[in-house]
Amino acid sequence: MTQQPVLEPELSPGQVQLRCIACNSVQRSAGQKFRCSSCGDLLEISYTGWSANQADAYKSVWRRRRISKDAMDQSGVWRFRELLPTLESFDHAVTLREGNTPLYALRRCARIAGVEHLEAKHQGMNPTGSFKDTGMTVAASVARQRKFRWVACASTGNTSASMAAYASHAALRSLVLLPEGKISWGKLSQSLDYGALTCQLKTDFDGCMRVLNEVVERAPVCLLNSVNPYRIEGQKTAAVELMEQLDWQPPDHIVVPGGNLGNSSAIGKACLEMRDLGLISRLPRISIIQAEGANPLVRAVRENGGKSLTPVQAETMATAIRIGNPASWKKAVRILEATGGAVEDVSEIEIALAKAEIGADGVGCEPASAVTLGGLKKLVKRGFVRPSESVVLILTGHLLKDPEFTLNFHRGELFAGARHPSESAVLAGQRRAPLVIDASADAVLKTLSQLGDA
Ligand code: F0G
Repeated sequence: MTQQPVLEPELSPGQVQLRCIACNSVQRSAGQKFRCSSCGDLLEISYTGWSANQADAYKSVWRRRRISKDAMDQSGVWRFRELLPTLESFDHAVTLREGNTPLYALRRCARIAGVEHLEAKHQGMNPTGSFKDTGMTVAASVARQRKFRWVACASTGNTSASMAAYASHAALRSLVLLPEGKISWGKLSQSLDYGALTCQLKTDFDGCMRVLNEVVERAPVCLLNSVNPYRIEGQKTAAVELMEQLDWQPPDHIVVPGGNLGNSSAIGKACLEMRDLGLISRLPRISIIQAEGANPLVRAVRENGGKSLTPVQAETMATAIRIGNPASWKKAVRILEATGGAVEDVSEIEIALAKAEIGADGVGCEPASAVTLGGLKKLVKRGFVRPSESVVLILTGHLLKDPEFTLNFHRGELFAGARHPSESAVLAGQRRAPLVIDASADAVLKTLSQLGDA
């Protein structure tokens, strides 16, 4: 390290507790499955010793770290380390300089959705191309500190890509369980390239999760799915960074895709903590969007106000969120209630259309991220989001994560043989299929003139 990290002795880090989200009991350490030892529900990290009168001091030290050359200061996660569990030593930290993701104006999408102020926080601009890196840096560092040799996850592709990278960077071994044939090639190739032991199981994500839960009970591997509360702590920082980018003026709405529901919980937790610490003065409404074919949370909220959740058999081309039994649904319901957010679900056609529209704004994202724009359109139509309100979409994955989806879309093959071909007619205007023409300037100019652009 070329320079010492920026430390502020007066900013004492909070003391960490592991608290059960259901029975509130506090545990000193987490077991292999990160479940409450009394009632079996999920744990979350809470802090004691934070005081609300340090908001300005936090903001100024976080700002100063941006010009530091130290790896921990350059990480867009560890830069906010006062809001994270403390590591015994920075030597345990494994960072790929995650976070630091851009906030883009989506002008065309704003017009399409019918809102004046629309921006996208692009978490796909992380080192492995998805938001998972922000959580993985914290969870992998804690696994290393706890002297695990193996880490493991079940995944729809992005968690595995991220875990494989951070594990190898930290000289840990990693075990990946994937639903066979149901993740994009890009993500599978990342896991292989970063050196994970990659197993494709003949089941879906929920099946992989069941198998992994048994594996971690029988072998000393550290579970790195988002039930691991350290993942959630790292993912929180996307919201902190977002508020910093907005000069600590929260948008009216944040819209997040929902799969296993760790990320919406993390963004919400960050907002509640920032409000309690005086970093922001009001809460944005956090809304969660799922694919119609993988919408257990949306059903739960509509059918019983989120009191119980019935798992579904998930099916969607947005494979990242093809999840029928989301682990963190109770945390997500709490965030919806605390922030006054809404839920929506979107069809496959709506996902494909929204993805092409985000692409046409010069930004691009993977299919699962595009549910946010599809959902926003519906939230505007039903009057939940007013045209004058400001909205930030959380784009979770990079366009290049799933090039096959994009190519099939533009070639008009995505919905080939679909049950309702007429529905896909709305997509025609967004298609930009590649042209094959002669290798001559004449042929190129003729093509241009046919478009009326030359
Ligand atoms: N968007 C993308 C691109 C994802 O990869 C995921 C989840 C989500 C949204 C949903 O986030 O689960 O926190 O609600 N992907 C997981 C994986 C499950 O294994 O990569 P969530």
